Amino acid sequence: MSDRHLIVLNVNGESHEALVEPRKTLLDVLRHDLGLTGTHVGCEHGVCGACTVLVDGEPVRACLMFAVQAETAEIRTVESLGQDGELSDLQRSFSEHHGLQCGFCTPGFLMLAEGFLAQRPDACREEIREAVSANLCRCTGYQTIVDAIEATATRRCHAAKKEATA
Ligand code: FES
Ligand code: FES
Repeated sequence: MSDRHLIVLNVNGESHEALVEPRKTLLDVLRHDLGLTGTHVGCEHGVCGACTVLVDGEPVRACLMFAVQAETAEIRTVESLGQDGELSDLQRSFSEHHGLQCGFCTPGFLMLAEGFLAQRPDACREEIREAVSANLCRCTGYQTIVDAIEATATRRCHAAKKEATA
């Protein structure tokens, strides 16, 4: 008898069916069953944050969550950031501020920052530093990642103010 379950995951605004064993992680289902390989596999122990995705808007380590637990949630992966082949403002900012080198950690930092800025759009640099301390990067020294997120926050705040006064 198969112990696999048919589940429906809502990922990046689309419903996907997958036949999965209960022990299969959200990370493995995203990458292997749905082909969304932008979410990276690092430690697989909840330490590095390379696998960070948004689950109902909260940054979550996809290696620590079973796919069956995510069935009713709205999941967003790094593939959701760009639109029509264009990078998002946050992705552009990482590029402009040299917030990546090898890029292995980048999808995780992008989704961490996307979730954080949605909750704390006016976060100060210190709060951004605290937020990014959740994930590991072996290349950049973190300052450029903080620069990229801070610049995005500033740009989004200016845009929101402009819109409010228009
Ligand atoms: S791969 Fe999930 S935290 Fe490292
Ligand atoms: S850019 Fe290489 S690990 Fe972060």
